[in-house]
Order: sequence, then C-alpha cells, then structure tokens
Amino acid sequence: MTKQDSGAVPRHIAVIMDGNGRWANRRFLPRLAGHKQGVESLRRCARACVQRGVQVLTVFAFSSENWNRPEEEVSGLMGLLANALAKEVQQLSRDGVRLHFIGDRSGLGDKVCAGLAQAETVTAHNNRLVLNVCFNYGGRWDIAQAAARLAEKGEPITPQSLDRALALAHVPDPDLLIRTGGEMRISNFLLWQAAYSELFFSDSLWPDFDEACLDEAIAAFASRERRFGQTSAQVQQSQPTSSHPQTS
Ligand code: FPP
Repeated sequence: MTKQDSGAVPRHIAVIMDGNGRWANRRFLPRLAGHKQGVESLRRCARACVQRGVQVLTVFAFSSENWNRPEEEVSGLMGLLANALAKEVQQLSRDGVRLHFIGDRSGLGDKVCAGLAQAETVTAHNNRLVLNVCFNYGGRWDIAQAAARLAEKGEPITPQSLDRALALAHVPDPDLLIRTGGEMRISNFLLWQAAYSELFFSDSLWPDFDEACLDEAIAAFASRERRFGQTSAQVQQSQPTSSHPQTS
C-alpha cells in the first residue's frame, strides 16, 4: 500500500480506554484507583485534542457488558461518573468542550440522568471540541435501537436512515480509533461508525496514555492512505489529501 504523509489531524478520534485495572494492579491499588487515574488521563487527552485541532473525541467509558463486573467496581464507576459531572464540567466548559453522553440511559437512575442532561445543557454553546462519553453503550445496542426507532415510525431501514437514527448522528464517523492497553479488538464499540476508521493499538495503559502517545497515534494516522473501497491509483488521482472524504 502506498503511504502518504498528509500531516493530517483526524477530525474525529474515538478511544477504547483500556488498562485502568492493570495500571492499578501493578501498584497494588484497588481497580477503582485505576479508573480514577483514567479520568485524569481523559481530561489530559481532551485538552490535547483541543490543542491539536481535533474536533470530536468519543470515548468508551462504560460498556453494556460492564454491568457484569463485580458490584463494587460497577458502583465505583457510577460514583466516578457522578463525581466527574460535579467536578469536571466547569473546567471542560472553560476549555470549550461540548459534552454529549451516548448510551442507554434507562439503566442509570434519575439523579445520574439529570446530571447528564444538565452537563449537556451547560456545555451546549461550546464549539472547540465535541466530547462524546459513551456510557452504558454497546455498538449492537446502538444499531438495534436505531432500527427499532425507524421500524416504529414505519420508515424504511437503509444505510442512510440508520446513520441518522444512530446515537452519533450529530458527528462524522471517527477517522481514527485508538485502543490502549495492548488488546487488539473492538469490543462492541462503534460497530457501524468505525467501518472506515483507521485503527491504532497502543500498548500503553490508559492512565499512562499522554500527549506523546496521542501524537504517535496521530502520526500513524497521517501516514495511512484512506481508500474507502477505491484503488490507490484512484485515490491519488482524485485528491492530494485523502483524510476527510465524504463517508456516505
Ligand atoms: C477499561 O479498563 C476501562 C473501563 C471499563 C472504564 C473506563 C473509564 C474511565 C477511563 C473513567 C470513567 C470515565 C467517566 C467519565 C466516568 P479495564 O478496567 O478493563 O482495565 P484492565 O483491562 O487493565 O482490567
């Protein structure tokens, strides 16, 4: 495959923030300490994205399957979310971040849901970075809920109508999908939207994923040739920089 160095910054980066538990284990700390450090890392990553001109950051904070974790860890993660809502939203807003919470809110409780809605309202006017926090989210849930909504309205189910009914309809598809923590799988994240995302797997554990790690991922992205089903020759002919073609 021909490589090209377009120097492009991805418009939309998605991240599977894996490795919090191992980060804590290595320090003989409870797993929740790793998740707390994960929140710090998320704050740092969001700020770095703003500085680099990334427009959208989407992170996997709690999957539909994470309910199967020990009760103590699940309630710890819920507490972290409530705490982050109370403590982080003001600063994120000052940094120009607009928050969206993506996922099934039916299992989350009234107080948490009210906090999510409030954070979205408070940050709604910001336009430097859209931060989508996927919480109680799964790619299969997303496709199923989109199809169910279309069926309920009697609308035909097509790739275009599904696109509009999915939970990330307000942003373009991710250009770059990063997974930290050394595993190489998608784990039910953005199954539809990642169809043409460039994948980058980092051995760094999420709490250790710093600006240099982000830059490494962005540099790898910039060296890729995105073909969207075309041949390399077609891509070279049609556009000098192929980072952000229309994805429809
Ligand atoms: C995966 O690491 C990480 C999670 C399941 C949770 C990610 C959550 C955060 C970074 C913080 C929460 C964010 C908000 C906004 C509340 P793991 O526990 O699977 O790590 P391991 O593979 O090392 O065990």
